[in-house]
Amino acid sequence: MFLTAEEQDMLAGGQGKATRKAMQILVALGTIYGAERMLPVTSVQVAGVSYDNLGEPGLQFLQEMAEGGGQARVLTTLNPAGMDVDAWETLGISPEFASSQRRVLDAFAHMGVLTTCTCTPYLVGNLPHFGQHLAWAESSAVCFANSVIGARTNREGGPSALASALTGCTPAYGFHLDRSRQPSLCVEVTAGLEACGEWEESLVFGALGKAIGDRLPESAHPPVTFIRGLSRVSLEGLKAFCASLATYAGAALFHMEGITPEAGSLKPPAAVIQIGERELNLALDSMTSAAAEEVDFVSLGCPHLTIREIARLAELLAGKRVKKEFWITTARPTKFLADRMGLSRIIEDSGARFAVDTCCVVAPIQGRFHALATDSAKACYYAGAKNGFKTLVKSFDDVVREALQ
Ligand code: F3S
Repeated sequence: MFLTAEEQDMLAGGQGKATRKAMQILVALGTIYGAERMLPVTSVQVAGVSYDNLGEPGLQFLQEMAEGGGQARVLTTLNPAGMDVDAWETLGISPEFASSQRRVLDAFAHMGVLTTCTCTPYLVGNLPHFGQHLAWAESSAVCFANSVIGARTNREGGPSALASALTGCTPAYGFHLDRSRQPSLCVEVTAGLEACGEWEESLVFGALGKAIGDRLPESAHPPVTFIRGLSRVSLEGLKAFCASLATYAGAALFHMEGITPEAGSLKPPAAVIQIGERELNLALDSMTSAAAEEVDFVSLGCPHLTIREIARLAELLAGKRVKKEFWITTARPTKFLADRMGLSRIIEDSGARFAVDTCCVVAPIQGRFHALATDSAKACYYAGAKNGFKTLVKSFDDVVREALQ
């Protein structure tokens, strides 16, 4: 693998221990995947932030990198942590966990990583443009960056994303190369998604992602899909779709005719699958395992809510009281805006809680609840797989109604 003089210096330890370790990780990856060289990246999104997932070994690795002089060389943002950094106590997080989580965040901050703690970096200042090379972890954001924006990133893991932050580069393979971005499967959507209401999109597009995933064979290299038959989708619908397709199809990239930027220059593949009402309904049904009366936990914000979704929530909750534990998960800058607009007060007066910096999947809440109501296909998967919760999936508005019953 060709390395520039500076990259060789990093690998030889000329720029500190942490940078050497970071370059070793990237060279190993590049060698495995046959990369010929490194590419400079313009931004990084690091995942693997919750102490619930990292544990002591993960924390130790981060502290070693920080103590070894690691410093981010490009804009680097962070995935959600295991707690609201300010309001962890009111969410029932233990002081022991909070202390460990703070050490994780301190290590990242020491390395110059912005502790944004959100899975929607593109909403809070890490917004790449078309064609830029990135090193992003967080599968939903990777799918959004590649597909909706047309930037280029592989699905990085926590250590490889951090390694790119500390070196400013990534090996040139996979979705950085034109040939990996070609679609090989056409998906014709005949389900008539245009008929769905504005606030049903997160549910319906999440179901579409699962329906596509259910039709694909299990593979370490899922096909890049070329999706036809959709004439409109909101930012919120795309956010939900990317999270779902990444979860159920393992996808890092799709093209959507008339909507995503690369679709217009690509030829639709000959191989076709169709997704109609039946497939969509099957996907929806398969995500529900709880009856309404079993629900004891309600959450919206997987991926993190936009300010438009928070405004809708305030509209639905104004003057009412929720009867179940209800977490609203979003990025802190979005919450600041909600505070300024008077939306947070309306929401909090209803008894619902903001769980900023975190989410219902990465927080340490296993065993605390029995069944989750959500509009998120991704949350359905991980609430079951990670936390053992049953799930009830509904539209955004209906999830709020669930909390009020
Ligand atoms: Fe984000 Fe947590 Fe969902 S990280 S995409 S809110 S599982």
